[in-house]
Amino acid sequence: MSYENSRVSDVANILHARASSLVNKAEILKAVELKGLLAELPTLPVEQRASFGKDINHLKQELQNIVNESADTQERLATIDVTAPFDVNVNGHRPELLPSTGGSIHPLMTEMDTILDIFYRMGFNAVESRQIDDDYHMFESLNFPEGHPARDDYDTFMTTDGLIAPAHTSTMQNRVLKKYKENLEKNEPIAVVIPGRVFRNEDLDATHEHTFYQLEGVYVDKGVNAGHLIATLKTFLEEYYQQQLKVKTQPFYFPFTEPSFEFAISRPESLRNGTGTEDDDWLELLGCGMVHPNVLRMAGIDPEIYTGFAWGVGIDRLVLMKYGIEDIRHFESAKLDFLRQFA
Ligand code: DAH
Repeated sequence: MSYENSRVSDVANILHARASSLVNKAEILKAVELKGLLAELPTLPVEQRASFGKDINHLKQELQNIVNESADTQERLATIDVTAPFDVNVNGHRPELLPSTGGSIHPLMTEMDTILDIFYRMGFNAVESRQIDDDYHMFESLNFPEGHPARDDYDTFMTTDGLIAPAHTSTMQNRVLKKYKENLEKNEPIAVVIPGRVFRNEDLDATHEHTFYQLEGVYVDKGVNAGHLIATLKTFLEEYYQQQLKVKTQPFYFPFTEPSFEFAISRPESLRNGTGTEDDDWLELLGCGMVHPNVLRMAGIDPEIYTGFAWGVGIDRLVLMKYGIEDIRHFESAKLDFLRQFA
């Protein structure tokens, strides 16, 4: 647009250039130069005012157009939902799925499916864990009373208003025990696995991540003992690693189990160097035990009638061992050359 007044034309050039570098384009409407032009108007000789005023109005309109356009663009951008596998801007008919040739399922999720499948075949239900929880489920319902020193074993992340990013999937035990309690009245066991993402304030290294995955398991019925626990885990692990394994337990401490164990397996084939001599090298794998009577009681289950076992295993660790991966941080690293090996 050409202006009749060179004074307005100069200001227009300045403001166009400035508008193009502003993130919030609306600020250009408040430019001091624009106010300056308006202030000059009454000082001009009467015969020039009409043309000067018209130029100013024109400039204001141009700037307003720039602002409107940018608002339109922002509105269009805002409607793109990155979680939708289709284009949400297409209306009127069910949109086509976007092509997915560029990606694949993350290896941890593929392995999680394999693991859940084994437990479905063993008669377990699955309930997904949560990513934010509270003190009651993280500690109290698991027999960690207020001020219990074992609370410090879990380097929990907390929000300023006291919510907790769960440091283990055991936070779900009380919920699933309550949810499936009626099974017991029907003479059926509670048999649940709980996959979930967990968070710990860890120093990171090849075997520690701040965010990782666990699979919790809980089994409750009449007459359940530690032999059932060991048999269940051995059966699962042999199916997952597709080989016979030696297993052993050693005493440990968790507030929510009594007795508590650490469960170890003989080194699987995938982690041997082919010498055949390493099958009595033990790898600690997970924590487990017999559900503490207080944990059953807090879910309204009578520990005089029912007993149960529980375990919690790190999925990342199971997968690392299956494939001989040397560093847990690869999983969250978005390294495509690593991930593509599993695609
Ligand atoms: N929650 C424990 C941890 O993350 C693991 C665990 C141990 C889970 C014993 C259990 C259990 O259910 O019975 O360190």
